Amino acid sequence: MTQLKIAKNENEVNLELSQANRHGLIAGATGTGKTITLKVLAEQFSKAGVPVFMSDIKGDISSIAESGSINDKIQERLDLLKLDDYSNNAYPVTLFDIFQKNGVPVRTTITEMGPLLIGKLLDLNNTQLGVLDIVFKVADESGLLLIDMKDFKALLKEINANRAEYAEKYGNISSASIGAIQRSLLRLESEGAETFFGEPALELEDFIKFDESGKGMINVLDASVLYQKPKLYATFLLWLLSELFESLPEVGDPEKPKIVFFFDEAHLLFNDSSKELIEKVEQVVRLIRSKGVGIYFVTQNPIDIPESVLGQLGNRVQHALRSYTPKDQKAIKSAAQTFRQNENFDTAQVIGELKTGEALISFLNEEGQPNIVERAFIRPPESKIGVIDEHVKKDLINNSPLNETYKETFDRESAFEMLQKKIEKQPETSEESKSSKKTKNTQKDSEPKKKEKSSQFQKETSKLLSTVGRQIGREIVRNIFGTKRR
Ligand SMILES: Nc1ncnc2c1ncn2[C@@H]1O[C@H](COP(=O)(O)OP(=O)(O)OP(=O)(O)O)[C@@H](O)[C@H]1O
Ligand SMILES: [Mg+2]
Repeated sequence: MTQLKIAKNENEVNLELSQANRHGLIAGATGTGKTITLKVLAEQFSKAGVPVFMSDIKGDISSIAESGSINDKIQERLDLLKLDDYSNNAYPVTLFDIFQKNGVPVRTTITEMGPLLIGKLLDLNNTQLGVLDIVFKVADESGLLLIDMKDFKALLKEINANRAEYAEKYGNISSASIGAIQRSLLRLESEGAETFFGEPALELEDFIKFDESGKGMINVLDASVLYQKPKLYATFLLWLLSELFESLPEVGDPEKPKIVFFFDEAHLLFNDSSKELIEKVEQVVRLIRSKGVGIYFVTQNPIDIPESVLGQLGNRVQHALRSYTPKDQKAIKSAAQTFRQNENFDTAQVIGELKTGEALISFLNEEGQPNIVERAFIRPPESKIGVIDEHVKKDLINNSPLNETYKETFDRESAFEMLQKKIEKQPETSEESKSSKKTKNTQKDSEPKKKEKSSQFQKETSKLLSTVGRQIGREIVRNIFGTKRR
């Protein structure tokens, strides 16, 4: 069985590679060593041929692409741990950036993201979410692609202009709600998020790559700006989760994970998320394991993560927590209770005493049971501590083969163009609808009349839809997170 060397006391504290898809948790207060622990884990995974994804919020993750060096502090740790198998190394990194400045562009389409996540992103209330659902239904049923913001806005405009007709088929659509969605979109655009929606959309297989020596690629998302927009950041991570879930096949219990994801500042995934969304995260986290994906949540305090998700995180590294307030103490207590106790120390007490880069650790054993909690020091990272050199970063971006694939965006025929065509044909159809209005005025609204009108509408839309239908082929089906099924 392959084991990853993560930490040491008198003994090595190792992570079973075959249990690494049983997910994990890295928790601890500011400055206690979480980021370095993440890097040590990522290095070991990479070395074992497991690609990794992580986001870089403070700019201190990307430097995993540079070799580290031994200073006094590192030497002290090496001596303390009696590490004789340590050497400095650089790791293979691909940088990604949804704002397209500090990495390979990451894009997706509105259609792929779906109503649930777009609803979270736009921070809509229930009524507005109802209308958003209709917008997606209109698009999905006709295979009308919403690729970018332009498409989305065009469809909103179309639906708003023909509200009454769409309402007949889909239910009430208030123009106030459409207005609210449009304003939310403007806000998103002003945050620069429109670059995220477009094509080519990222194929998640492009995260599962290796360097020439077989090391797993470490995919680092520049999240320095993204993190300032917590909704966008959280939605992005949920989208990744959903895409992974959707695109990878079942593998059962693999010898090692296909890929490991680190979700930094994981509490943001759950902050003001609906109960429905949290349940879905829980469900996906549970199911994605058998697709060979390990998810590691990184957060200051484990109580920021819902119980149902926390319960599934088998591999745990708990750095120090502060214990100033009664609330702190409660958090420590509950963190301590999640471990299998070690009779040699009081877990809750030790959580308050841990030094930087020291942690309480419990990984799963070969049988998948949690080991008794150990107090140990995390190994020093083999790569550089601190911020990446600007030149190294530029080279990484420019030399990435993926940059060629994703650098240029393209704009194929989608909702905006289709609706444009519909509007160009409008004179003819508006004549028809005018005459239907006239008859409506002369006759009292009666059942047969209504039918006639809706069939008229159906004829018009089916005209639009059949042109679109021929192009796209089929109705869009949505999966667990409401993202597009492949
Ligand atoms: N395992 C380790 N080996 C060597 N040095 C370490 C280790 N862990 C932490 N350190 C030292 O402690 C510093 C702080 O650690 P780190 O940046 O990982 O904290 P953090 O918990 O991520 O903090 P923040 O919440 O502010 O991001 C590091 O810059 C490094 O100098
Ligand atoms: Mg950190």
